[in-house]
Amino acid sequence: MKTYLVTGAAGFIGANYIKYILAKHDDIKVVVLDLLTYAGNLGTIAEDIDDERCFFVKGDICDAQLADELFAKFKFEVVVNFAAESHVDRSIENPQLFLQTNILGTQNLLDAARRAWVTGRDEKGYPTWRKGVRFHQVSTDEVYGSLGETGFFTEETPLNPHSPYSASKTSADHIVCAYHDTYHMPVSITRCSNNYGPYQFPEKLIPLIIKNILEGKQLPVYGEGTNIRDWLYVEDHCKAIDMVVTQAKDGSIYNVGGHNERQNIQIVKLTIRTIHDMMEQEPALRNLLKKQEKDAEGNIRIDWINESLITFVKDRLGHDQRYGIDPSKIKEDLGWYPETTFEVGIVKTIRWNLENQAWIKDVTSGDYQKYYEKMYSDRC
Ligand code: NAD
Ligand code: DAU
Repeated sequence: MKTYLVTGAAGFIGANYIKYILAKHDDIKVVVLDLLTYAGNLGTIAEDIDDERCFFVKGDICDAQLADELFAKFKFEVVVNFAAESHVDRSIENPQLFLQTNILGTQNLLDAARRAWVTGRDEKGYPTWRKGVRFHQVSTDEVYGSLGETGFFTEETPLNPHSPYSASKTSADHIVCAYHDTYHMPVSITRCSNNYGPYQFPEKLIPLIIKNILEGKQLPVYGEGTNIRDWLYVEDHCKAIDMVVTQAKDGSIYNVGGHNERQNIQIVKLTIRTIHDMMEQEPALRNLLKKQEKDAEGNIRIDWINESLITFVKDRLGHDQRYGIDPSKIKEDLGWYPETTFEVGIVKTIRWNLENQAWIKDVTSGDYQKYYEKMYSDRC
């Protein structure tokens, strides 16, 4: 039985990851450490926490004493660090919080792991490590910066981040590598492209667009909508992390993505069309709409769910033009590939959002409205 510390697992990807690994491996235990910021929701993982195989601790990855206590109590073999401030637009408003959580929080976890896992010194003075331990850092393709019209990010692409968020994630990657080079710490890093799927907080493009359509609101597209992201269904990302954590060599870095590049405007148009068509085929779904005008036959109208909802708004500062992952290394070394096509994944995601309105209501019941007004009244 291996015990994992998984940080940030009340958030989007971390929650999907613990569901995935608990179902896949019956010989692991998971301790979730999460501060439950605006992006964390205990309800998302409530069904997974059973205090036998899955435990929850509310706390900050920057808290050294707490980290030491958890290592002493649970004797972790594996740390998977998802915890982060993850939203680029928020990092433009408040960079310091991103540096604090994403850089110092990561370094604090690395130190706690080092205190717990070092068993001695070798003849050259390097620390020796408990067998089978691993610190895995969940990173992002944004560390590479922005691509022009051609080419892809490989693991050799120089790091060249632009936003405070991506600069903080890059710094964290450098620290993780520094602990490997300096102390021979067993680490790994995955750098993934844009995820979509269940439990994504509706500040991110896809769930925000779905939420706005249901509310009959305009759909804000930054700039001209021509920026390109490489979309990956979240479960495929979870699988990649699991493979890297369990199979990859110490010190390895893997890009994760699936040759699924789309312009933002294409994503928005596809989401509009899909919701419209689902509601046409399943009239009961129309009850989810806030706008409840009826046609002559007494059906709730959906003809307004069209591209006229799109509104082009002020661009994000320093907006990266294009991300595109070359996933050859993880494919060749570990046999990973994205199993969910975008056409299937986007429909699953939209359906999940439609069918989980209670979850959406729950996670947006706090400061979401204030956030939305602040970020989007400035842009229009
Ligand atoms: P998220 O914002 O949905 O979740 C982040 C979680 O971290 C939340 O549960 C939050 O409560 C927790 N958290 C924040 N600060 C904390 C702290 N100081 N201590 C403990 N917990 C804290 O993020 P996400 O989209 O699930 O991303 C998870 C990780 O994956 C991040 O490291 C992000 O950089 C990386 N990543 C995300 C994507 C993506 O498309 N979302 C793609 C590649 C990499
Ligand atoms: O590439 C991986 C990254 O993907 C992760 O590291 C980040 O944590 C994650 O948030 C995501 O970053 P992006 O900035 O790409 O995701 P976001 O959903 O915020 O935006 C996707 C694209 O859509 C981006 O080009 C900005 C644009 N956009 C976004 C929002 C919220 C809009 O046009 N309108 C919007 O309202």
